[in-house]
Amino acid sequence: MLFSVLVLTGLMASTAMAASLTYVYKPDNVVENPPLVVVIHSCQSSAQSYFQNSAIPWRQGSDKKGYITVWPSSPNSGTCWDVSSKQSLSHLGGGDSQAIANMILYAISEYKVDPERVYVTGGSSGAMMSNVLAATYPELIKAVSLYSGVAAGCFVSSSGGVDQWNNSCSGGQSQATPEKWKQVVLDMYPGYDGPRPKMQIWHGSADGTLAPQNYQEEIKQWTAVFNVSQEPTESVQNSPKQGYTTNNFGDSVQGIYAQGVGHSVPSNLTASEIWFGL
Ligand SMILES: *[C@@H]1O[C@H](CO)[C@@H](O)[C@H](O)[C@H]1NC(C)=O
Ligand SMILES: *[C@@H]1O[C@H](CO)[C@@H](O)[C@H](O)[C@H]1NC(C)=O
Ligand SMILES: *[C@@H]1O[C@H](CO)[C@@H](O)[C@H](O)[C@H]1NC(C)=O
Repeated sequence: MLFSVLVLTGLMASTAMAASLTYVYKPDNVVENPPLVVVIHSCQSSAQSYFQNSAIPWRQGSDKKGYITVWPSSPNSGTCWDVSSKQSLSHLGGGDSQAIANMILYAISEYKVDPERVYVTGGSSGAMMSNVLAATYPELIKAVSLYSGVAAGCFVSSSGGVDQWNNSCSGGQSQATPEKWKQVVLDMYPGYDGPRPKMQIWHGSADGTLAPQNYQEEIKQWTAVFNVSQEPTESVQNSPKQGYTTNNFGDSVQGIYAQGVGHSVPSNLTASEIWFGL
């Protein structure tokens, strides 16, 4: 738990500085009982570089709408998130997922964040972690908007390794039935029967890093978790932009498939905020 202690120190240091980044970004015009968006970086990145990346729009959203953003930093070399170990793939297992869950709890107590309005977003490795968090800490999160990830548990290491790459998953060969993927989620938090975050899943058809098949596997997983059909209830072409297709599977699962777009799909602040209800 060294990681979360370091992070908590970062969080505390930031309380003295208005509108500055030390893992947490509190805009000057923060609203009362603010919503919280957890923004999870990709590999070869960090909280700070993600925050400073102009393609990552959450600081602007925070400034405009007065919600808080928390930017966790991966402790692993290469700075991908651990989405392969038993610890990270288990509720209260003590891995990176729990470190992020602790940041959410800390932000709720320290910044009077509305616990009913906690949202998670991320790209690539951060998108994988977003799926893992949805599975391991569903009680903390209202909605997720993730860009170019893989299903929760898809990157598992059979030997229990921490922060392992998984070629079968990245290549799109890890395929399973909806029921099997659902069981992977249920097994990460056995016995949990409460509400679960609604899932918005973006993926590009030309993704050469995390094969587009992973989009299908994510849709299978979350539609099964929500007990809805894998057939979209609604499919809208060229939405939210030319070449993208938005597929709704009831109210709790939305897939946005970006034709011709590689790894990773650019964040669309407006579309993610709409999904979150911000
Ligand atoms: C990669 O993940 C799949 C599940 O997606 C798993 O069956 C396989 O054992 C993993 N590979 C390694 C080397 O751990
Ligand atoms: C799906 O159905 C199961 C079994 O009926 C139920 O326990 C679970 O809460 C349902 N899931 C959701 C997200 O509604
Ligand atoms: C982002 O999404 C919004 C809302 O769905 C849409 O109006 C806008 O055109 C999109 N922007 C881009 C760059 O895709």
